[in-house]
Amino acid sequence: MPSPFLIVAIDGGAAAGKSTTARALSARFHFLHIDTGSYYRALTAALLRLGVNASDSAGVERAVANIALGTVVDGRRASITIAGDTIPEAELRGPAVNAAVSHFAAIPAVRAALLAYQRDQARIAREHGFAGLVMEGRDIGTVIFPDADFRFFLHADPEERARRRAAEGQQDSIAERDRLDSSRKAAPLLCPPGATDIDSTFLSLEEVVARVSEPIAARLGAA
Ligand code: CDP
Repeated sequence: MPSPFLIVAIDGGAAAGKSTTARALSARFHFLHIDTGSYYRALTAALLRLGVNASDSAGVERAVANIALGTVVDGRRASITIAGDTIPEAELRGPAVNAAVSHFAAIPAVRAALLAYQRDQARIAREHGFAGLVMEGRDIGTVIFPDADFRFFLHADPEERARRRAAEGQQDSIAERDRLDSSRKAAPLLCPPGATDIDSTFLSLEEVVARVSEPIAARLGAA
């Protein structure tokens, strides 16, 4: 029997270890890796370039309706394109986007613009011959793929997460983003009911990856 196409959802707060875990799963199981945070960052960068303010939700809605989204697959990773172009990583992770992204991500029109786009990534993964996809974000197990084959929620103490982000050489207000992401009305950050909750504060990356991989390997072994 051929192996099933698997969807793995990983949610969690800022610098909780989602990306490193998702990259490791993608390499081990040949899954397409989708970092939806980078999609919200790209849309934020595009809106900032247009001079749109997050407090002007009607203006945001109008601007978003005119932004053409596309996807490029580079190795095992999918990236979003805006009007055909990818936005440079330095801009996506820079201070202006760090400060603005959670404000734009709280606006329903922004989330709506990305909803169908994110679900359609499963088609792209299949077309490219991937064995499944691993999608990380804040609302993947709650809103985007509530029926995913596996749903994980990663968390870690705020001090440990701030240390990790600083070790990446980045200035980032992760506590403020978590506060905004958890308290917003539209798709707030929360552990999806029934998801596997992993506290990574005292775990190494290898230990987190081992825990997350175990049930997936078991399912594939049984297929
Ligand atoms: O990498 P890090 O954990 O710092 O954040 P990210 O995953 O790049 O996400 C940046 C921001 O995008 C988050 O703080 C959220 O405001 C927003 N986001 C969201 O609202 N929903 C998602 N599925 C992913 C990100």
